[in-house]
Amino acid sequence: MKALVLSGGKGTRLRPFSHSLAKQLVPIAGAPVLVHVLQNIRDIGVREVGIIVGDNGEEIMELLGDGSAMGLDIAYLHQEAPLGLAHCVAVAADFLGDDDFVMYLGDNVLPDGIEAAARDFAEHRPDGLVLVTKVADPSQYGIAELGADGSVGALVEKPARPRSDLAIIGVYFLTAAVHDAVRAIRPSRRGELEITDALQHMVDEGRPVTVREYTGYWADVGSVDALLACNRTMLERLTSEVRGRIDAASSVHGPVVVEAGAEIARSHLEGPLIVGSGTVVSDSWIGPGTVVGHGCAVRDAELEESLLLDGANVHGVRGLSGSVIGRGAEVTAPCDGRGTRLIVGDHSRVEVAA
Ligand code: TTP
Repeated sequence: MKALVLSGGKGTRLRPFSHSLAKQLVPIAGAPVLVHVLQNIRDIGVREVGIIVGDNGEEIMELLGDGSAMGLDIAYLHQEAPLGLAHCVAVAADFLGDDDFVMYLGDNVLPDGIEAAARDFAEHRPDGLVLVTKVADPSQYGIAELGADGSVGALVEKPARPRSDLAIIGVYFLTAAVHDAVRAIRPSRRGELEITDALQHMVDEGRPVTVREYTGYWADVGSVDALLACNRTMLERLTSEVRGRIDAASSVHGPVVVEAGAEIARSHLEGPLIVGSGTVVSDSWIGPGTVVGHGCAVRDAELEESLLLDGANVHGVRGLSGSVIGRGAEVTAPCDGRGTRLIVGDHSRVEVAA
């Protein structure tokens, strides 16, 4: 059994961050999404992992290398353009050979693991086992409709009148039968080779395709709001660990991780939150649901429910909430008595109090 992790894509919903950072490297509760993904893959005993990368792939390769640090053997497979999830299977055909594999979307977070699904697949070995979860708004998702015997009857993308509330989530267990299906399908109206079409082709050919309901927490962190919500939920599982320095004039409440080399002075930390290594926090209040990355500076500030990527600098600002501050970005009070001044990159979003 191998794994195929999809870490290419356009990432339009996660702009502006995805302009310069593969979205699968965005940190969730202090570790890149991709690290959470690979931990789950390692936990089901898979070692050989192919990672599909696109134009932002270099940083992924730098971070993970050959995978040995995580006990994995990683091969990188370059996709020249994001032509669809089934296109990724075609790109990986040589790597996958005739092996069974788990295909895992690199922006999906499943902290409760995928062991039960892997066991289910190994035991019954259908040609496809798709993880699904019940959703309140099925018309927003790819949906699995089941036949009377519980096997998949149809897979429908964003149905106007859904006949099931089982949304397909980003983990698929597949046999090599999928390769014929991928070769047989044509691009969809949006110009992509869809994995739902390949699975539907298998169903139409009479091949066994089943679903398994995933009852644990699941998030697709492809958008900023989903990213913040997932980060908050994952922080609820945090256990305190203070390796950095907190001075006597500071106070701490709730689960808090302060990494080695971080310094907290005259501040209050209200967990759950993480302060990354090499970060300096002074004269500030940091509230729950916040992750401050590595090498940041937070001075004379108040923030909560926010994500500061590495090297971000927040100074003299209060009331920041639900914010994501990019790498090396600065958010400061206006200088020289000027009004609000914005220097905002492409496709950014700013909400300023009136
Ligand atoms: P999506 O989130 O469906 O697509 P996207 O990354 O292009 O994002 P957006 O809709 O915001 O523009 O992709 C799911 C995962 O699969 C994600 O980790 C990116 C990856 N992917 C590929 O590797 N190659 C592809 O051709 C596509 C479409 C996605």
